[in-house]
Amino acid sequence: MTAADEAWARVESQARAPAGRAIRPLFAADPGRAARHTHRAAGLLLDLSKTSVSEEARGALLDLARARGVLAARDAMARGEAVNATEARAVLHVALRAPRGTFRVPALQGRDAGSEDASAAVHDTLDAMRGFVARTHAEGRTTDVLNIGIGGSDLGPQMATRALWRHGMPMRAHFLSNVDGHAWEALRHGLDPDRTLVLIASKTFTTAETMANARLARDWLGESRRGQLVALSTNLTATRDFGVPEEQVFGFRDWVGGRFSMWSAVGLVIAMACGWDVFQGLLDGARAMDEHFLSAPEAENLPLLMALTEVWHVNGLGYPTRAVLPYDERLSRFAAHLQQVEMESLGKRVTLDGAPVPRNTGPVIFGEPGTNAQHSFMQLLHQGTTPVPADIVLVANPDHGFEENHRQLLANGLAQAEALLRGRDAAEVRAEMQAAGIAPDRIAAVLPHRLFPGDRPSTTILLPRLTPQALGALVALYEHKVFCLGALWGVNAFDQWGVELGKVLATALLPDLSPGAAPGVHDPSTAALIREIAALRA
Ligand code: F6P
Repeated sequence: MTAADEAWARVESQARAPAGRAIRPLFAADPGRAARHTHRAAGLLLDLSKTSVSEEARGALLDLARARGVLAARDAMARGEAVNATEARAVLHVALRAPRGTFRVPALQGRDAGSEDASAAVHDTLDAMRGFVARTHAEGRTTDVLNIGIGGSDLGPQMATRALWRHGMPMRAHFLSNVDGHAWEALRHGLDPDRTLVLIASKTFTTAETMANARLARDWLGESRRGQLVALSTNLTATRDFGVPEEQVFGFRDWVGGRFSMWSAVGLVIAMACGWDVFQGLLDGARAMDEHFLSAPEAENLPLLMALTEVWHVNGLGYPTRAVLPYDERLSRFAAHLQQVEMESLGKRVTLDGAPVPRNTGPVIFGEPGTNAQHSFMQLLHQGTTPVPADIVLVANPDHGFEENHRQLLANGLAQAEALLRGRDAAEVRAEMQAAGIAPDRIAAVLPHRLFPGDRPSTTILLPRLTPQALGALVALYEHKVFCLGALWGVNAFDQWGVELGKVLATALLPDLSPGAAPGVHDPSTAALIREIAALRA
């Protein structure tokens, strides 16, 4: 048995012990628990106390992290080693927000000997982007910026722009991701081609949906407005072939994963819409979290502690989902961004050496801002059969003057976590119903429906204010948590082969949907649906 096997066994046996799910007794036994399980870094507070991780369990989880060599893997990532082994690539989104001169990438498979000064490439691009943003704003002719991209070329930039844009900022931002023509139809009527800058964001510049939408926008702009076309990509041949003027192409390297790319040229829409200082603030906040992640020991390392909490829930307790509940409307796309960051990274079933994973990996993530979530799916979190750990994000200070609304918002966020923890027992419900004068037979009939089991876990993240710096730190916290989980589970968190088959089949299927086409070979259900669609479209 290896040290890691032993550590896994200890974690699993502690979680499966009779008291493994209980949280309230941990608070009762230890008045210092809240403080002991609250951590701070880069201006954020992370409260992990409302989980059933006991002191002993935390020790076992930290032993697991040591046995799995998580911090050594972190250091290999920061050295620019090809930790994305299946694609022979380094993983260096940390270089995107680091000072000039801090990162080099060793020569990788298929490259020339020597090494690349990654941070020089990053800062040259940032300088070019800053100049372009300044010129565009100074010119004052362009009022709107349209970002065309999908997945990582949409979700992160859109999430951040929505979170940070305030009235009076330089430009309005719009996002076109879905190949569904209704999306373009809805957008184009509100846009003036003379006043719109079009950013085509695509790491590969081959993604079918993005290229289809980019062609629509290029036609809409027309030949005379080619100067309003900008490309954000690693594929400079394809951007040239598409007709984007060379000086309007902002590149990045293949060591930036799509879902980690909002800090690269792909974030140009954030800077255009909100101003350069906002974008720089985002980078600075992420950098602050990077510095913490890259230097803090296991027991104080926030991303690692979050990852270990996830291991406890997924592998120890068998909880297969997690909810993300930002109590801030401006974070309305935060859960959507995390869905890609986490599920595309950790939805894996083989380890790095190709063997089947011996235990469950990434959970299903879903979420909505509070308080809307409370009136939608929170019922299941409180009384459903399987507990769903929740991440609750609270922002102490709003950027509006409606104090009463904000107090209500905070009260609700805190109350949800409290309700999940404390539950409601029969004595409490009975006393309340008796006090309301309800008849005993009615109380007996309704009582079971009004019980809350409690001991349901949540994690709270508190931001002083939703500044660019705080958002940068928050997103980087989750990025590094994903890294840690990849190392703990032994999977490659940086490839995404699972999205390929659908793309291949969609390409093969496309001709079958042409009028009068003789359909190719498909399973009977798909073949029948193709016939039905053809009949309905005839
Ligand atoms: O299909 C998945 C994916 O490859 C994501 O990983 C990526 O963020 C998205 O597509 C878009 O890719 P690109 O930026 O190359 O257009």
